[in-house]
Amino acid sequence: MPGTATETINASIRSKDLVRQLQWRYAVKKFDASLKIGPDLWQTLEEALVLSPSSFGLQPWKFFVVKNPDVRKKLQAVAWNQSQIVDASHLVVFAVKKNLNADDVRRFIALTAEIRGVPKESLAPYQGMMEGFVAKPPIDINEWAARQVYIALGNFLTSAAMVGVDACPMEGFDRAKFDEIFGIRQERLCHRGGRHGGIPRRGR
Ligand SMILES: Cc1cc2nc3c(=O)[nH]c(=O)nc-3n(C[C@H](O)[C@H](O)[C@H](O)COP(=O)(O)O)c2cc1C
Repeated sequence: MPGTATETINASIRSKDLVRQLQWRYAVKKFDASLKIGPDLWQTLEEALVLSPSSFGLQPWKFFVVKNPDVRKKLQAVAWNQSQIVDASHLVVFAVKKNLNADDVRRFIALTAEIRGVPKESLAPYQGMMEGFVAKPPIDINEWAARQVYIALGNFLTSAAMVGVDACPMEGFDRAKFDEIFGIRQERLCHRGGRHGGIPRRGR
């Protein structure tokens, strides 16, 4: 019976808890610098971030967790001096992987084949479809990639709220200066989830 199946799937998070946490969330302007997210909770948030959906699963992004306080001060100076950058327990920078191309698709296929334990050849139709997409994207490929990154940001903010971790999404910074500080050329920084963020690379 469909109703029963839905109830079973949803049993771990009750609808009222979801809405309560989303109502609780807000973009925190002032963090208490003495409060730190514990390692286990942080690990969970990183995993949630890595599980963010993207078109084809291509994940055209890189997430940086900035730990060095000196680097965070430098970033703050080019982010309207916003205090969240230095005061939040964790700082995550969301970077867009620019100019995604067939080489990226091939790397992704190799990784997927390895993780799934299947021959690369079995993924040839999927690879062909993605190569066709990156060769002739329906919109600018960097614009497309930036949209994917915003999905990850949204997922991360919701995940943080679900476990009661404060956060602040932030676009108020000089992207070119952030690129310089990170030594990034291929990627362009898009924005960062304040206070907690996760990071790594997804490997479903
Ligand atoms: C993409 C994005 C960028 C934002 N950039 C900043 C920022 O640089 N600094 C800041 O204090 N808040 C920033 N905010 C927070 C918004 O101002 C805030 O989300 C909005 O006022 C709605 O309030 P709420 O999120 O607390 O409900 C940003 C929010 C989003 C979604």
